[in-house]
Amino acid sequence: MQKLWIAAVFLIGCGTTTNAGTGTPADAETGADVSGSTDAAAADAADSAADTAGTDVAIADADATAVDAAPDVLADVAADVTADAAAEDVTATDVAADATADVADDVAEDVAADVTADAGCPDNTPCDDGNPCTGDDVCSKGVCAGQILTCDDGNACTTDSCDAATGCAHTNNSLSCDDGNSCSVDSACIDGTCTAGALLGCDDGNQCTADSCDPTSGCVNTLGVGPCNDNIACTVDTCDSFFGCIHTKQDTLCDDGNGCTADACDAVTGCSNWNVSTDCNDGNPCTDLDVCIDGACTSGKPVNCNDNKFCSIDSCDPSSGCVHDTTNCPKPVSYELDVLPIFAAHCASCHTTMGAGGSNFASNWFDTQSPSLQCPGHTVGWCTLVRIQNGSMPVNANCSGNPATDSGKSACLTQAQQDKISVWISDGQQP
Ligand code: HEC
Repeated sequence: MQKLWIAAVFLIGCGTTTNAGTGTPADAETGADVSGSTDAAAADAADSAADTAGTDVAIADADATAVDAAPDVLADVAADVTADAAAEDVTATDVAADATADVADDVAEDVAADVTADAGCPDNTPCDDGNPCTGDDVCSKGVCAGQILTCDDGNACTTDSCDAATGCAHTNNSLSCDDGNSCSVDSACIDGTCTAGALLGCDDGNQCTADSCDPTSGCVNTLGVGPCNDNIACTVDTCDSFFGCIHTKQDTLCDDGNGCTADACDAVTGCSNWNVSTDCNDGNPCTDLDVCIDGACTSGKPVNCNDNKFCSIDSCDPSSGCVHDTTNCPKPVSYELDVLPIFAAHCASCHTTMGAGGSNFASNWFDTQSPSLQCPGHTVGWCTLVRIQNGSMPVNANCSGNPATDSGKSACLTQAQQDKISVWISDGQQP
């Protein structure tokens, strides 16, 4: 008897805390089940699963079955107990058996009654379950319920939610987002709109490409154009459509104009020039055998400007080289310029054509070089001075050959004329 009363109390408590058809929280029922009712536990298990899935329709009836049974069982058990108590053969077993039978009968009756009561909401008809977070509400098995609304407004820059009192809400967020432009980065939500961040950097660091950005495809780096300048002065920079930038070293671009350094181009460090030891030209014509020392052309020994002429003064001009000053040297005496005029004036009448003595020395230098008949072993030219000074020439001019004695006689030669002929002979009788 004591156990039955405990069961009855549990069922009463359960009935007061559950409410069929309104989605009773599973937690409350789970707490009640701890006391141990077979019917209630089965219903609760199904209810919990159904709640998770978002539909309470089937659960409502299951709850009704268990809960509705409680007051009926209570009444039946009380009646049985009264009846049994009057009988002499009452036993605990009898009471239990009666209670079980009563429970089954009453549950069936109550389910039938619930279905009848819910029939006010015909199956598959539109209704309003009063929850703004559900939509397309329809009746099913007498219960009005709808699908949970997602509240998705399709805008990534709003956070969608649903409030049981006010319904769907869309709150602006500041999430990163995609603005659909491949040329922007770090796009972020501002005031509910995806706003472009910084421009996408498309510089690929390759000077041989033209860099740009296409809003659809993103960075475009077109090979084959560009300066390709590597900032190395001694490389020739070109842009190849296949290989990209090409930098060609040219040592000649490193020429420092110094013959005492070697010049070379390095692709990384640029020009380098280092001292070399070699022959060089210091640009001074007055020095010879110049050599490079410490990168500078150092003058060698002075050039020899001696022309071996006793009368010339030799020197060297750094701009023009050797200079030979012959100011004080004797002027050269020639047949053509110096001697011929004298012969022409004093001897031409007999020594020009078909010359006397067979010699035309007064008009022809070659005849001066002929062997003399009157001065054996000498030339006619050498013999002229002899004939002048011994007074035999010019013929019939009455000259003594001594200028002082012959002074005033125009046909005779003066001392200066004799000296000129003398020098001409001593200088080799130049033409
Ligand atoms: C009027 C004519 C005449 C005049 C002027 C004259 N001569 Fe003669 N000369 C002769 C005759 C003729 C001979 C050949 C005979 C002789 O050797 O005496 C000759 C011969 C010479 C010879 C020798 C040739 C040889 O083969 O050895 C010399 C040298 C010479 N004359 C020099 C002079 C000179 C110098 C002058 C001028 C300053 C001069 N004569 C003027 C007539 C002339």
